[in-house]
Amino acid sequence: MQKLLVTGGAGFIGSNFVHHVVENTDAHVTVLDKLTYAGNAASLDGLPADRVRLVKGDIVDAELVDTLTANVDAVIHYAAESHNDNSLHDPKPFVDTNIIGTYTLLEAARRYDRRFHHISTDEVYGDLELDDPERFTETTPYNPSSPYSSTKAGSDLLVRAWVRSFGVQATISNCSNNYGPYQHVEKFIPRQITNVIRGIRPKLYGSGQNVRDWIHADDHSSAVLTILGKGVIGETYLIGADGEKDNRSVVELILTQMGQESDAYDHVTDRAGHDLRYAIDSTKLRTELGWLPAFGDFESGLASTIAWYQTNEPWWASSKDATESFYASKGQ
Ligand code: NAD
Ligand code: DAU
Repeated sequence: MQKLLVTGGAGFIGSNFVHHVVENTDAHVTVLDKLTYAGNAASLDGLPADRVRLVKGDIVDAELVDTLTANVDAVIHYAAESHNDNSLHDPKPFVDTNIIGTYTLLEAARRYDRRFHHISTDEVYGDLELDDPERFTETTPYNPSSPYSSTKAGSDLLVRAWVRSFGVQATISNCSNNYGPYQHVEKFIPRQITNVIRGIRPKLYGSGQNVRDWIHADDHSSAVLTILGKGVIGETYLIGADGEKDNRSVVELILTQMGQESDAYDHVTDRAGHDLRYAIDSTKLRTELGWLPAFGDFESGLASTIAWYQTNEPWWASSKDATESFYASKGQ
């Protein structure tokens, strides 16, 4: 596949994917991105102009989506409203982009018979107890908790229906929590790193015992390329790197890696309906498609992420104040 359309390619994981594609393949990439508050054209800076083109536009714009889809071999669909806290405040953009946007792209993939890969999340499965020995697998029943995760679950089901009813050549992946460069400062890890840089104490929701299963964004990208190359049409693959950590441990690690006391953080108002634990069993992807993560060590991946935010303040500085004002208005 030489020509790729990457939706949401100016966002966190999408831009990491575009960098990964340029570094590891010969493919040409068209990015379709609305450049919402979460998109940043600067995340694509330095990439060769003859390989990467950014089109500013909305995935619900059927005419634009049709034109772009007709001219590529495959669509890799990252674009979404992605933040749970925002979805609790204003769910409407989540329904528009995550459901109607995915529908619009599927219709174009169907019309032009294009390969389609849908990027989704482990949150569609709901949450696990802390002591549950099971992890999420491809057969775990859907049980989303938030407006965000329910719209992602809905988009996954649209993809499955378009495969079965219309023969669209689609695959789906559901990945756990990503960390790495180019992540918006509203999210947990960059929020705490940039708080420490600004002299603000990190903020932990509730008790901080909630567990997330961390994977470096570059490992997510290599998994998606593997599925694009070897994945079976109609199949779902879970992506994870065995990176379970509770939130309190992550905050303590950030503080110590940044030279602060490990308890120099505040407990703040918990998230409504806060999922307790996510954990991915990625056996299918590893055994059937031969994928393995490259970032085995969360602590060194976190250290390089901290270094990235320290050296790239111009990338995030303009979003920081508005993000913290929003959280402050909610006691977070
Ligand atoms: P992000 O919020 O950083 O980026 C989303 C991008 O989509 C932004 O560039 C934004 O401008 C663009 N976008 C939003 N609405 C659009 C629209 N209507 N039309 C075109 N572009 C639009 O999100 P992210 O964290 O990079 O997540 C990307 C995808 O990966 C999402 O589908 C998300 O559900 C999924 N995912 C994220 C994680 C994670 O840990 N962040 C984990 C698993 C899956
Ligand atoms: O699991 C995959 C999902 O991971 C993706 O589908 C989402 O797009 C992505 O945003 C992420 O969702 P989370 O809600 O898990 O990520 P977030 O970074 O918002 O929060 C991670 C954990 O940290 C969660 O338990 C809430 C907590 N938290 C978050 C913030 C912003 C805090 O304790 N303090 C904070 O300031």
